[in-house]
Amino acid sequence: MPPDSAPAPILTAPDEELSLVLRSISAILITLDPQGRIRLWNDAAEKVFRIGPGAARGREFATLVRWDAERLRATLESCRAEREARRIDELAFEAAPDVRGLVGMTITPMGAAGDAGFLVFGREITEQKQLEAQHAHALKLESIGQLAAGIAHEINTPTQFISDNVRFLRDAFVEITKLLELCTALARGAERDAASTALVAALQGLDLDYLRAEIPKALEESLSGLERVGKIVGAMKEFSHPGTGEKVSVDLNRAIESTVTVARNEWKYVSELELDLDPDLPAVQGLPDEINQVFLNMVVNAAHAIAEKRGASAASLGKITIRTRSTKDGVEIRIGDDGAGIPEGIRQRIFDPFFTTKGVGKGTGQGLAIARSVVVDKHGGSIAVESTVGVGTTFVIRMPLVATLGNGAKERRA
Ligand SMILES: Nc1ncnc2c1ncn2[C@@H]1O[C@H](COP(=O)(O)OP(=O)(O)OP(=O)(O)O)[C@@H](O)[C@H]1O
Ligand SMILES: [Mg+2]
Repeated sequence: MPPDSAPAPILTAPDEELSLVLRSISAILITLDPQGRIRLWNDAAEKVFRIGPGAARGREFATLVRWDAERLRATLESCRAEREARRIDELAFEAAPDVRGLVGMTITPMGAAGDAGFLVFGREITEQKQLEAQHAHALKLESIGQLAAGIAHEINTPTQFISDNVRFLRDAFVEITKLLELCTALARGAERDAASTALVAALQGLDLDYLRAEIPKALEESLSGLERVGKIVGAMKEFSHPGTGEKVSVDLNRAIESTVTVARNEWKYVSELELDLDPDLPAVQGLPDEINQVFLNMVVNAAHAIAEKRGASAASLGKITIRTRSTKDGVEIRIGDDGAGIPEGIRQRIFDPFFTTKGVGKGTGQGLAIARSVVVDKHGGSIAVESTVGVGTTFVIRMPLVATLGNGAKERRA
């Protein structure tokens, strides 16, 4: 544009310009009358709460949707009293069963003391909070993983030399047994020799037969215990192996075995666990640490569901079954439990981030959200759930051998 040219003509009248701005702005912009009733309601507000301007106008803002109405009313009051803007950082709302989220808002009094009403300026922060929560969760897992790998390494070293020593003692005992037999024979031969009487009595007091039978058993048991320690350590190492972020060939059967081994303490008090793994299961290209995480979340959920059904009663153990099969175009993993089941009414919501039916401190509602993001978004697979209240639940995970989509999944979801 040449420097001396006239300014661009205003194409719309100022009112139209303003309404265009209100329509285009991506932030929530609402004005309230002094009683807190909605006057102006922009497109972004409609999009977040899925309530049109016609339905919103005239309604009290604090009770428009399900949220902390008292907190909102108190904020408006303090805005009015202090004549200052107030921030509400994180407010959870539910406008309809499937319209939920978090918003952050600033409320500013208009006019002298809010006598001209209030301006509400805000945005939806659901996704940001979700990402933060997942990030925090990932960081926590990473440090737990590092600790576990360190501990596994530490346990490995003494376990190895204890095993070597026990094996040596077992082999050496074969020789000692021969010695003991010789001693016994010698003692029998010397029975009539008066000088040896004391020696014979001492030998008989030792109960050599018992030692000969029991010592090898004790050594065998120790060795099999050590073998178990070795397996747990191996599983811990495998489970906590830090991923490189690159897809590699993953043996899902092994991933499942190491996950149930490290998580044994989570399920063994409430349930048995049966593995039915297809020996010919093909490997999939994937992110091993994230896939382990999915199995862990599912197994822990299953154990919780069984614990919930059992209640405080010491009824017989429940059962978790994990089955793998190859399918026409990939693999299928079924993780079943005979726990409490999932009521129909919430089945749609269990994959939502933050959705939990568990008490404070027990569940954060991240487990299945993470599982879905790993299986669907990162591996191009699917997760379905079959459940009957009081009978049990089965999660069915399907994965292609090679993730056919990387970013494609995200694009499709957006
Ligand atoms: N196997 C199951 N049986 C019954 N209900 C389940 C099962 N798995 C999940 N759910 C339900 O789905 C909800 C969400 O599960 P999710 O794993 O996402 O979160 P959480 O287990 O509550 O918390 P977190 O996994 O973050 O500790 C659970 O609170 C529970 O109500
Ligand atoms: Mg969970």
